[in-house]
Amino acid sequence: MGDIAPSFTFHDLAPSQESFRDAVFAGLSRDPKSLPCKFFYDARGSALFEKICDLPEYYLTRTEIAILDRFAADIATRLGPHCRLIELGSGASQKVRILLEALDRPAAYIAVDISREQLRKSAARLAADFPKLAVVAVCADYTRPFTLPPLPGPEGKRVGFFPGSTIGNFEPRQVVKFLADWAALLAPGGEMLIGADLKKDPKILNAAYNDKAGMNAAFNLNLLARINRELGGDFDLDRFAHVAFYDEAQGRVELYLKSLVEQSVQVAGTRFRFGAGELIHTENSYKYAIDEFRTLAAQAGFEPIHTWTDRHQLFSVHYLRRA
Ligand code: AVI
Repeated sequence: MGDIAPSFTFHDLAPSQESFRDAVFAGLSRDPKSLPCKFFYDARGSALFEKICDLPEYYLTRTEIAILDRFAADIATRLGPHCRLIELGSGASQKVRILLEALDRPAAYIAVDISREQLRKSAARLAADFPKLAVVAVCADYTRPFTLPPLPGPEGKRVGFFPGSTIGNFEPRQVVKFLADWAALLAPGGEMLIGADLKKDPKILNAAYNDKAGMNAAFNLNLLARINRELGGDFDLDRFAHVAFYDEAQGRVELYLKSLVEQSVQVAGTRFRFGAGELIHTENSYKYAIDEFRTLAAQAGFEPIHTWTDRHQLFSVHYLRRA
């Protein structure tokens, strides 16, 4: 194996970053106030999210990994030989290794992520560990339409891989649009493997997002700390609290930052007022019963082929094929 040079190419589609400043000003001027969850992930926020993934209460990551481990052979049989895996939001490219180990002579791994340097490093590392695999890194915002570069390997099956239940952070109507765009991008023969968190006992959900170590709180409050760091804000983090609860009617965990007192905060020269108890909405994390998710996938033009779950029905991995 040592004499095979790893194949690694990097495509920078120079994704335009939505201005943090514009989003913060718009969100704090709105009634009710809100901030987009995609801004959680600066370097500090990404590090905090990794800690959340290791928490005893946050079952999502380890359960999905256990499902992939347990069913890797079945997944590999269904995907067949020479497939080209395209991971959306590839991050550290960890979970995909389970699939790449199990797949029959995968032709290529395409890692798509907006964080240029992490993408370059993780994809290069993976290329070194899988010297027979063509690895293509694409720096792009996968939530917006873009064109994939020509893929190495024989024409054949393209499989989108979207783990982690990140799909749960989209609104259901955005899920349909997102999947429909990917159905077009993966054609011909497009398939997808998507991790989605399942509906369950609210106690388990409330504990996952209100952990004892306070990591979810630190992750949520980091949004205000980021405003202080990057936009010269003067948020006093002790005057805000993390709030997270499962709303059963909506089927989602909602995250907020609550102002503990009446106060005004300055961001880049503009003042924003907060009433005592006022909430800033920061995230929704939808939980889908298997059939609910399949219905959304069908609306986007995908046929649900199979769903793998764990023994406790905590998490699901859906296998979809373009109808
Ligand atoms: C990234 N995403 C799937 C996480 C979730 O569970 O919705 C983000 C998160 N928010 C709070 N804790 C973790």
